[in-house]
Amino acid sequence: MAVIPVITIDGPSAVGKGTAARLVASELGFHLLDSGALYRLLALKTLRLGILDAAVHGAGIARLAAALDISFKPVDGRTGIFLEDENVSDEIRTERVGARASEVAAMPTVRSALLDLQHAFRQSPGLVADGRDMGTVVFPDAAAKVFIDASSQIRAQRRCKELSAKGKNVNIASLLREINERDDRDRNRKVAPLIAAGDALVINTDDLSIPKVKEKIIEHVRRCIPGLAADN
Ligand code: DC
Repeated sequence: MAVIPVITIDGPSAVGKGTAARLVASELGFHLLDSGALYRLLALKTLRLGILDAAVHGAGIARLAAALDISFKPVDGRTGIFLEDENVSDEIRTERVGARASEVAAMPTVRSALLDLQHAFRQSPGLVADGRDMGTVVFPDAAAKVFIDASSQIRAQRRCKELSAKGKNVNIASLLREINERDDRDRNRKVAPLIAAGDALVINTDDLSIPKVKEKIIEHVRRCIPGLAADN
């Protein structure tokens, strides 16, 4: 049976991996896994249950991860993210949920509880998976791996622009602090830390537009998967 190709896109928070992954998946007609959304959904669940101390409630959080009731369904032409049949697409994007996601993601039992769920996204004709450990841990046999990076200042500026455009009141200094804290936790945790896979193409996007990033990824994918049909 032919191996279903996976393209992994890893990188730190607010670097634009989600957008890049969506564009690449759409161009190739591949499925998409936003693995950060899984950690965010679990984080939201713990916040709603009032579980405030991840260290104390570790076993309970891992059980919640294994039983997470989530689904992805189209809503107004985009993918809606549902927790127990409630559309929480916006709620999971808040900084509060992101910070909690980074805490629960540092727990080894949570990471292993979410592995099967992530593998289940590998479906024909192929998958684009974005996250922190897609190329290193979850899909080490991926056909093409990319690691996107950018300085934390540039990421904070981009996030600030994005939130301002949505009419949100933002403070760039606190955004930068949150990004640095999250980077620190994601890079220095013991399990599946944020790191580029040895065989990943590293793209620094400080001076690159989104279309240019997408172009570089597609070029890399076509180099790694020469048999990919031209109309894919
Ligand atoms: O990509 P994101 O910002 O939506 O991810 C939220 C948090 O989830 C991030 O701080 C770390 C964690 N995460 C992870 O540990 N591994 C992944 N593959 C994806 C996300």
